[in-house]
Amino acid sequence: MADAAERGQWHSRLGFVLAAAGSAVGLGNIWKFPYITGENGGGFFVLIYLGCVALVGLPIMTAEILLGRAAQRSPVGAFRKLSASGSPWVSAGFLGVAAAFVILSYYSIVAGWALHYTWLSISGALSGKDSEAVGAVFGELYQSPGLNLFWHALFMGLTMVVVWSGVQRGIERWARVLMPAMFIALLAMLVYCVQLPGFGPALDFVFGAHSEKLTAASVLEALGHSFFTLSLGMGAMLTYGSYFDREGDAVKASLAIGLLDTAVALLACMVLFPITFSHGMEAAAGPGLVFKGIPMALGELPFGRLLSTIFFALLVFAALTSAISLLEVTTAYLIDERGWPRRRATLVTGTLVALLGVPSALSGSSALFGSGLQERLGRNWFDFFDYLASNWMLPLGGMLTALFVGYRLDAALRQEEFLRGTTLGSLYRAWLGLLRYLVPVGMALVFLNALGVL
Ligand code: PFF
Repeated sequence: MADAAERGQWHSRLGFVLAAAGSAVGLGNIWKFPYITGENGGGFFVLIYLGCVALVGLPIMTAEILLGRAAQRSPVGAFRKLSASGSPWVSAGFLGVAAAFVILSYYSIVAGWALHYTWLSISGALSGKDSEAVGAVFGELYQSPGLNLFWHALFMGLTMVVVWSGVQRGIERWARVLMPAMFIALLAMLVYCVQLPGFGPALDFVFGAHSEKLTAASVLEALGHSFFTLSLGMGAMLTYGSYFDREGDAVKASLAIGLLDTAVALLACMVLFPITFSHGMEAAAGPGLVFKGIPMALGELPFGRLLSTIFFALLVFAALTSAISLLEVTTAYLIDERGWPRRRATLVTGTLVALLGVPSALSGSSALFGSGLQERLGRNWFDFFDYLASNWMLPLGGMLTALFVGYRLDAALRQEEFLRGTTLGSLYRAWLGLLRYLVPVGMALVFLNALGVL
């Protein structure tokens, strides 16, 4: 078992909320949510997603934070400590560590794209380009093994430096400054986007009653994304909760994190879709949406070069505060369960994740990885990892967490942990009801449906 100094603790409660919101708010909100909303036709998809966040995500977020705080351990140790040792529940912890590995391996590729775009903005290479030229820039990057590998390695290096420095000095200090900056940058972009001709159509697209492109797979995607965006189902919130002070209000913290995360996701849509529609670009532009949309909008403005540098740099920071939490899960496992020093744990896990990311980095280059395997998977590596982790591993991990807290955790401990430090104790029954009934049943239906059983 690691000592407290090796584990660390948040400096303040606000620090916890900001760091956890830093984990939640990331590429999922600004890169992924708008593009999957585009692919699933807007409207109803957004509504289903909001329902998943409120009714499934938030109860599980509270459950994870409470588990971490009660056990003072990261996922594997927490499940081991709170159930009988050797019990199968420990596998829920291992599933989390595995999911963190998989997610970070491709997350870092997209973060690398943001680094590349920061660099292109600084050098002026994006200025004054029309929509076709902007599209070509993304296409070139997507297909280039060298660029993808270079930026991926650099981003993983950055992530390792922060996790290496530990919970308080590394993670919390960065999140305190960078989170609010990202929020302000998005608001500023919104002010600009409100007067674009595409703003009305964008509002209608995101909030109107559109269901044309909605399929059964969309429901699984909305569910999976609610886990991805809130950093749930793999123990990131559980790990952060283990550094939370024992008298803090975990219920309010969950609500604050959920609200912030949702606000940023919707804000990102309200920035990107007006640009998309004003420039005659397709809403279903796929993973390139933000990387094409922002340069298209900012390229025309007087300070476009500066603004797009700021935007992409902040996107890198938002990605960094999330990547840190992913690496922290795997690192904390080695610290807690194997007694490794933080630095060695960071170095080893970070390097392994970086290596696992190589196939994803090469996904766009058909020359290297056009092999039969990608065809057999029906997707390229990058998409396959994303699909596997977001749509299956995270929801499964979340469901196990809900079942564990709902049925297996000692009832007195569960109630005491929920009520301690919160002013929202009256929500206890509703929370437990959601964890016990709605979450498992609802999710089982979505899983069965996605598997074609229903
Ligand atoms: N929530 C992050 C995002 O939306 O970008 C991604 C993420 C971070 C997922 C941490 C899972 C996680 F544990």
